[in-house]
Amino acid sequence: MKKITIAIDGYSSCGKSTMAKDLAREIGYIYVDSGAMYRAVTLYALDNGIIQGEEIDESRLKQEMKNIHISFQFNAERGCPDTYLNGERVEDRIRTLEVSNHVSPVAALPFVREEMVRQQQHMGEEGGIIMDGRDIGTTVFPNAELKIFVTASAEIRAQRRYDELTAKGEACDIADILRNVEERDYIDTHREVSPLRQASDAIVLDNSHLTIPEQKAWLLREYQRAASK
Ligand code: DC
Repeated sequence: MKKITIAIDGYSSCGKSTMAKDLAREIGYIYVDSGAMYRAVTLYALDNGIIQGEEIDESRLKQEMKNIHISFQFNAERGCPDTYLNGERVEDRIRTLEVSNHVSPVAALPFVREEMVRQQQHMGEEGGIIMDGRDIGTTVFPNAELKIFVTASAEIRAQRRYDELTAKGEACDIADILRNVEERDYIDTHREVSPLRQASDAIVLDNSHLTIPEQKAWLLREYQRAASK
């Protein structure tokens, strides 16, 4: 079967990366979590005092973009790639609530998006890639052979994120998480550059009431259909 490009977009915490990772493992494709890249930029900004409270020093961040090197290395134990920021593994640090709370405004900055999209397109030059995010089917890979747009209710997504964080031992409050999910939905869909929206040729998957194996089987069927065209 030919190597295709698969773009998976959708709201935060709706299980995009779980399904994308599983499929990549099963069919031997590269998996790229584009959200991890925006998270890594945010972590850099937090670590270097570029974000103070709610304020982002945009001109400093713009200058510092050349010093932010993001890469992925396959972790055989986890069976998926880990995110590295300037050579340091930051896979866990980019998933904290602190980074989640600051990432949307960082991801809305045009110079941040421009640089991330450039790197993402470079990663996908050879095909055989599954990338998930918000603008993959619309901006990064508008010619992707398979585009999926995933949705689930905000309450269900908040519960999933709560379960994920508590399983890692992070103390959190479900009401705070729901607020964060709703705020991020708002910013992601209302920003000026590449807002989250469904590509006209994307297939919609509402996974509110699907189990992970059901979702996995659905995606595998869609892949087989798209790759055999
Ligand atoms: O998928 P995630 O929750 O890890 O994404 C983190 C943030 O990055 C989220 O606020 C949306 C943003 N993002 C984006 O703007 N474009 C992408 N392609 C991926 C993520």
